[in-house]
This record gives sequence, structure tokens and C-alpha cells, in this order.
Amino acid sequence: MNSYASDGVIPFHTPGHKMGKGIHPLFQEAVTAKALKLDLADMAELDDLHEPHGPIKEAQDLAADLYGADYSYFMVNGTTGGIYSMILTLAGPGDKLIIPRNSHRSIIGGIILSGAIPVFMQPEVDNDLGLAMGVTPETVAESLKQHPDAKGVLLINPTYYGVATDLKKIVDIAHSQDIPVIVDEAHGPHLKFSPRLPMQALDAGADIVAQSTHKIIGAMTQCSLVHCRKDRIRVPRLKAMLQLVQSTSPNYILMASLDVARMQMATAGRTLIERAVDLANQARREINKIPGLYCFGNEKAGNPGVFRIDPTKVTVTVKGLGITGAEAEQILRHQYKIQVELADIYNILFLITIGDSEQEVQALVAALKDLAATHQGSHDVSALPEICQAGRYPALPKQIISPRDALFGNTCRVPFADAAGKICAEIVTFYPPGIPILCPGERITQEIINYCHVLQNAGLHISGPEDYLLKTIKVVD
Ligand SMILES: Cc1ncc(COP(=O)(O)O)c(C=O)c1O
Repeated sequence: MNSYASDGVIPFHTPGHKMGKGIHPLFQEAVTAKALKLDLADMAELDDLHEPHGPIKEAQDLAADLYGADYSYFMVNGTTGGIYSMILTLAGPGDKLIIPRNSHRSIIGGIILSGAIPVFMQPEVDNDLGLAMGVTPETVAESLKQHPDAKGVLLINPTYYGVATDLKKIVDIAHSQDIPVIVDEAHGPHLKFSPRLPMQALDAGADIVAQSTHKIIGAMTQCSLVHCRKDRIRVPRLKAMLQLVQSTSPNYILMASLDVARMQMATAGRTLIERAVDLANQARREINKIPGLYCFGNEKAGNPGVFRIDPTKVTVTVKGLGITGAEAEQILRHQYKIQVELADIYNILFLITIGDSEQEVQALVAALKDLAATHQGSHDVSALPEICQAGRYPALPKQIISPRDALFGNTCRVPFADAAGKICAEIVTFYPPGIPILCPGERITQEIINYCHVLQNAGLHISGPEDYLLKTIKVVD
């Protein structure tokens, strides 16, 4: 890219801004003229993401070597695109796919696109934290027993909050029935680089894995990797699905950032990730000394659904202060200029990465000390609605028709409060953390309606339904 950009070529090709010359100065100033010269399109010298045989192929092969895959592929529309292509590779209309209920909405999106039937596995729930943890090997084994015709098992490694299940055991169980395992490793592209982190999915034997290189290590937003082992996967089908979900005009700056992030991990990954783990452990120790706050760590390992913990996800439980995670998020942002990764009813999540230093950790600890001192006992925690205190999630709704049939069938809109008994035609997710509460094709229950009201009243934002206030909901007519 650099040599093309500095070769003095007269570009009669896309993009239309012609290496920045035609772009509005406002944008040029923001991203620099130098960067815009690198915003190029596919051409012989620069290779083609969809038929790579030159520099892109070389870069993808280097990523496969680094992570221990047979093949790796660049994604420029995030792990979302990676998850779509993994699901489409394994499952078509009517095929069963076993997935955890605490799946990110991109997984539900993949189910809708493929026409597959989800077989949901209930994750374990930690009532103290009010958090969904991993699914246990026993749950997976039971699902496989009930559905031996499933085309695959999808797992999350680790969860957004850094909880890893016993993936190796689960992969062995699925493989003993010759069923492939695909893994949403959006939050785990760094696992390979420290023995103090949970095992990465490829090392546990998973067949296809999607990682958000942009979330945790050094690539730009939207940049992810899909890794594959060829034994149980039809690689040409995976390639076809990657083509289906990706733009024919992938952004070269994004792809270059993926390659450089790979290079950074190959050359300095161990040092950088070990430092992030040290910083996170230091933060955790100091936060746990603050009255009213709790930051879970290795003591949770061995609990149901928890095999190991990724310490770089620093989840701080604030319910001891009598405030919600959403309230803590607002206070930290506006009084201390600290932005959390996500907030839920009880918790706030901070990510410690290769971009952090002692200084940021100290600022975080100081802000949390102050927050705790000023809010300690400000409310009675028992004032929070009962359903939250118990950390009780509503029972899984019944799947009546496939998500795809519900989405594309005849629908109408009804008041959400009166929707009990109807079949939902859209996704209802509180985001973050992006775990669907209702999926298309499921029967809405009164318990779910009540639970959604609780989350709304706690200030969490709804994502998914057309009516984002959830006064009404789309249902199958
Ligand atoms: C668990 C999980 N999977 C998948 C995704 C989608 O990843 P991306 O944002 O890279 O498309 C996310 C995003 O937050 C996520 O949290």
C-alpha cells in the first residue's frame, strides 16, 4: 500500500476521492492526508480479499501461523460478519444449531439469515453478580443427546465479562459425535499470548473461530479474524459464505491494521498481554479493598459454568453501594471522565488492554474510591426491584416457529404490556450486554414482560425492536 501510494500513480479508479484530493477538508484534517492516500481499492498490486493470491493471502497465512489455524481470513465488518459466515457454513434452512442463550445478537442474526432452528442452552447464572456465566459441558452433552441431528455447537469464549467455560471438554464431547464446534471468540484474540488467560478456542480443538481483533488488541474498529481447521469444515463453503457477507470493496486501511495488529502480537504479544494482565490484576486487588465494591476473579473458577477467568475484563459489582451499574456509568462519565465498556443492573465492566498503563489504572481506582465514598449507603439496595435482587432471569420462552419465519411472516404491532401469549417477531435485547431476552418465533410470557419493565426502569437501553421504547412489539399475526 505504501509503495503504491508513494509511486506517483495517477488513479483513474475508486475510491472517488482519489487518494484524498477530492475529499472535504473537514474530513482530511481529521484523518490526515497521509492516511487518505492509503484509502485504496482492490487492484492487481494490492490483491483481492475475495480471491487472495498476493499480499492479502500472505497476511492471512501469517495470521493462521500465529494462531495455529489451517486457514485464517480477514473480516472488515467485524465478528458479526465472521459469525454470520460460520453459521451459514454449518447450517441451512431447518438445520438445528445448538447455541447458548446468552448469545450476542449477531448469532441470532446468523440464525435468521441461515433459516436454522436454534436449540438454546441455558447458561449458568451467578445470582450474586446477576450475570450469565458459561454453559457447562453437562448442558452441552444433554443438548447433544436430545438433538443428535444438530449440525453444530456454538460457544462463547470468553463471555463479555471474561468467563470461560471448559471448552476443551465441550469440544471433545461434540467431536465424539462428529459434530463441529464454532466459537464466538470476539473477546478473546489475546488469549493465545498468556498462560494466565483461558485457553483459546483453536487450542481447545474448535473448528471455526471468530475473533474481534479490534476489540481487545490493536486493529481498527470492524477488523476481525476468522480462523478455521479443515478436518470437519467444508472450507470452500466457508469461503463462499465469507464472500456472501463481506463487501466487494473492503477497506484497505482496515485490512492493513489487521495485518499490523497480527505483526504486533507476533513480535511483542507475550510482553504486551502479560503487562495488561498484571495491570488488570493490580486494579482488581485495589478495587477489592474499596468498601461497597467487588471485582470477581479467580475465586469464581470452579463454580457452575466457570472454568477460568480472563482477568483483563474487570467487572465491578456496584450493588453494595445501592446504585445500579447504569447510574455508576453516568457518574463515572460525567464526574470523573471515565467511560466504562458496559453497564448492567449490578455491574460495570472495564477492559484493560495493551493500550493501558499504570496511570489509567490509578485514575480508575481513584475514581472508584471517590464514587464509593460519596454513594455508600445512598439508597437501600432492597429498593431495587425484587426480580433484580434475586438475579432471576425469566424462563426460556418456547420457540414456536423458526426465527426466520417469524421475521418474514405476516406481522402486526400490539402494546407490549398486552403481548403475553403472542409470538414475537423481533429481537429484544438490552444492550449492553447484548443478550436477547426475546427472539423471533418465541412465545412472549408475562414474566418476560415484567422483567423487561424492570430493566427499562433500571435505565438500560433496549436494542432490537423497531419501537425502541418497547411500548409496542411486533408479533406474528
Ligand atoms: C460476544 C460478542 N460476539 C460478537 C460480537 C460482534 O462483534 P463485532 O462488534 O466485532 O461485530 C460482540 C460485540 O460486542 C460480542 O460482544
